[in-house]
Amino acid sequence: MMGIDSTWIETILLVLFVCLIIVFLWVMIWDSNRFVIRKYAFQSDRLKKNCRIVFLTDLHNKEYGIGNEKLLQAIGELAPDLILIGGDMLQAKPGVSFEKGAKLVLKCAEKYPVCYAFGNHEYRAGIYPETYGTMYQDYMKCFEESNVRFLNNESVSLQESGIRITGLNLDRQYYKRFGKRKLLEGYLSESIGKADRASFQILLAHNPEYFPDYAGWKPDLVLSGHVHGGVARIPGYKGLVSPALRPFPHYDGGLFEEYGSRMVVSRGLGMHTIPVRLFNPGEVVVIELETGTHAKQEGGEEASAHNQDGGAADV
Ligand SMILES: [Fe+2]
Repeated sequence: MMGIDSTWIETILLVLFVCLIIVFLWVMIWDSNRFVIRKYAFQSDRLKKNCRIVFLTDLHNKEYGIGNEKLLQAIGELAPDLILIGGDMLQAKPGVSFEKGAKLVLKCAEKYPVCYAFGNHEYRAGIYPETYGTMYQDYMKCFEESNVRFLNNESVSLQESGIRITGLNLDRQYYKRFGKRKLLEGYLSESIGKADRASFQILLAHNPEYFPDYAGWKPDLVLSGHVHGGVARIPGYKGLVSPALRPFPHYDGGLFEEYGSRMVVSRGLGMHTIPVRLFNPGEVVVIELETGTHAKQEGGEEASAHNQDGGAADV
């Protein structure tokens, strides 16, 4: 009996395999050098007026176009009332420049009010001078003449809009790899006091893993990042890995409504240890806050608005 020539089958399988690798590599390069804009809208009767917030996080010193011109152009087109920064704009690595991250924040601050909460990279650069030298001091010096408002376990109230923003700077023990440490009892209230229930309370908390604890603090909205969307995503499912090297992290990106609270997790704009993104482009998050009569706000993802070709990137 004549069988199918096994050489042909092997050749076809090999060609298919090579094609698949090429497609994956192309998507990886494409996604590592572009960003999308993702919008969410929430209502509250505690807001005194509508407010459009652009939320940027985890840039890790990446550049979209020379001087981040593509990113700045997209922000300009969005015409935000306020820019919130969720941390990790630099990369805490000895000898690595923070210039691109600092410049982007400063450019934003020239046009818009900017509130900036730390991520683990700013925090790490500050507490390990034996490793990072004067990186933290030099970085912070860049902002001395600017209007950037750093929220290092601090809050700011925007009287005109009825918004209060609190920036949480988690201790290093809550960023350990392999395994999650429980937040010490009373840690949040000792670090950041109490939520303001008379305002629309936003909590900028870089690490989304502690959302159950954040929810207990009773914010109206948590804005988080850190997970980079799970680095590579299985389309329509989840991100692959968290910075703590946990597979398929639950809080990998998007809107989470749990424990009677809500959190938007940005997939971030940059990368570091694993310097690629797959099916997971960078992300600019837009939060539309609208005055409304609902005591309990309704929010939702409007889906990706449009893509921005990131141009040549320095990864
Ligand atoms: Fe981070």
